[in-house]
Amino acid sequence: MYRTHTCGELRMADLGRTVALAGWIQKVRNLGSMSFIDLRDRYGVTQLVVGDGSPETVRELASSLGREFVIRVEGAVVERSSKNPKMPTGDIEVEVERLTLLSEARTPPFTIEEHSDGGDELRMKYRYLDLRRPPLRRAMILRHRMAQSVRRFLDGEGFLEIETPFLIKSTPEGARDFVVPSRMNAGEFYALPQSPQQFKQLLMVAGFDRYFQIVRCFRDEDLRADRQPEFTQIDCEMAFIDQEDVLSTFEWMARYLFRETLGVEIEGDFPRMSWAEAMARYGNDKPDLRFGMEISELTGSVQGGDFAVFNTAEYVGAIVAPGCATYTRKQLDELTDFVKRPQIGARGVVWVRSEQDGSFKSSVDKFYSSDDLSGWAATCGAAPGDLILIIAGDRTRSLTALSELRLEMGERLGLRDRTKFAPLWVVDFPLLEWDGESGRYFAMHHPFTSPKNEDIPLLESDPGRVRANAYDFVVNGVEIGGGSIRIHDSALQHRMFKLLGFSDEEAERQFGSLMEAFSYGAPPHGGIAFGFDRWCSLFGGADSIRDYIAFPKNNSGRDVMIDAPCAIADEQLRELGLKVTV
Ligand code: AMO
Repeated sequence: MYRTHTCGELRMADLGRTVALAGWIQKVRNLGSMSFIDLRDRYGVTQLVVGDGSPETVRELASSLGREFVIRVEGAVVERSSKNPKMPTGDIEVEVERLTLLSEARTPPFTIEEHSDGGDELRMKYRYLDLRRPPLRRAMILRHRMAQSVRRFLDGEGFLEIETPFLIKSTPEGARDFVVPSRMNAGEFYALPQSPQQFKQLLMVAGFDRYFQIVRCFRDEDLRADRQPEFTQIDCEMAFIDQEDVLSTFEWMARYLFRETLGVEIEGDFPRMSWAEAMARYGNDKPDLRFGMEISELTGSVQGGDFAVFNTAEYVGAIVAPGCATYTRKQLDELTDFVKRPQIGARGVVWVRSEQDGSFKSSVDKFYSSDDLSGWAATCGAAPGDLILIIAGDRTRSLTALSELRLEMGERLGLRDRTKFAPLWVVDFPLLEWDGESGRYFAMHHPFTSPKNEDIPLLESDPGRVRANAYDFVVNGVEIGGGSIRIHDSALQHRMFKLLGFSDEEAERQFGSLMEAFSYGAPPHGGIAFGFDRWCSLFGGADSIRDYIAFPKNNSGRDVMIDAPCAIADEQLRELGLKVTV
């Protein structure tokens, strides 16, 4: 037997037992005739001591051991003379009687401890070493637990886990596809699924009225902290349901995951907010509800004076930063620089300090009287001691900038507490999104999303105002999931394709199989998909999803460990009938 216990297991109750442990050497300290070795495995660290009581051969071998060597030891569990209360095994140590070297190790390129000295890229290259570190190990364990809880919950609710193919057909909607050349069908390509959307709908037609899958999805899009080219969804679909059934089932699942994984009970129903309300109050469709600081519109209140920036703006809005009237010029300049960054794109921030003595000071003092400023303060609910931050410009961009500024102020004021969770449903998304560049509407969610019944008459006359039976699940400002009730009526589906500018042939080419399936009896259905990596990183208290994926890609979409993507051999290209021109 290699080991009787793990390195995280032994306690005072084991004193006097002879045990066998195996693992990696985290650290060796040689103190004269004694050596202390920290032995690590997936479960923890145990201190080994090689001293006068150990045989000569063991002492000799121990003196040649280095970091990350893999060893096996046998010995007695004894009480430590100087205990380490920070380690679960810190009361005991193992006096080594037998020692076997299982594998030598080169010096690792970075320290393999709670905090590493290795940079990002280096740790990505040696991901298998980084995964030995406790934070990543905890992340993998959390991910495993979450996956098990999801399966337990959905199985309990009658959902069947069914796999769908990875080699499918490319469709131009949504993000870019990753494509795979077919050898047997030269000149033709598969696409990797951006999600199993069409297949889960086909499963509903097939009669499996509750489906789920923890499934890899592939999207060739620009990467961010919460985006990877391959990521995992908890993908779900239900038949004979309406929106309310979907929301209540998955609200229940979310509660279950909060409880099972974090021991957190979310009180009360999850709030629901329409997309329009979220945009007006928070400037974005995934509001962080852990704190207030809502946006107030000031357009009407500030126009008509001498300040051209406000007079010519389509929209003027403000947030109130509580207790920030003391902000210095330098701090205010920092905020201006923040909103002027190209990705935010505002022209600047107008500030108004509501002083403790009831007076006002602002960057637009020469245009507005104290009464004007006091009126604005009343409109946005600013109290003495608060700072009002105002942004003016076109409506969409100003709201986006206010949203970013709100999140930045929330961060600065410590209001985005990682131990607090504020889930909500954002509902009533617009069905369509106008794209100025191509001069056509796009489905905001996807082309099978059903419009709200009461808005169907507007489909042709005022398409931009049609709301969808679509919903997002948002927690702490992160879009964790999204879904919709689908169109199951082919006449309505054809109207939708028409609106999206598809010719009949195009619709047939791209979605023909689904449309044909619907002609054989489609139940009313709908579903949702959750970003599993995002959910894990939210629960783990991290900003990036990378640490919750065992082998992620870097920001340029590369796996630097195995060096992918890479060129392929001429022979492979020939077989595939491909020629590389770059
Ligand atoms: P959607 O495109 O909104 O919906 O995706 C669902 C959820 O997946 C997560 N997500 C991502 N996570 C990491 N990296 C990415 N690149 C990435 N892209 C998306 C998000 C998102 O909320 N088929 C529909 C669902 C449905 O209608 O049932 C779909 O894929 O958390």
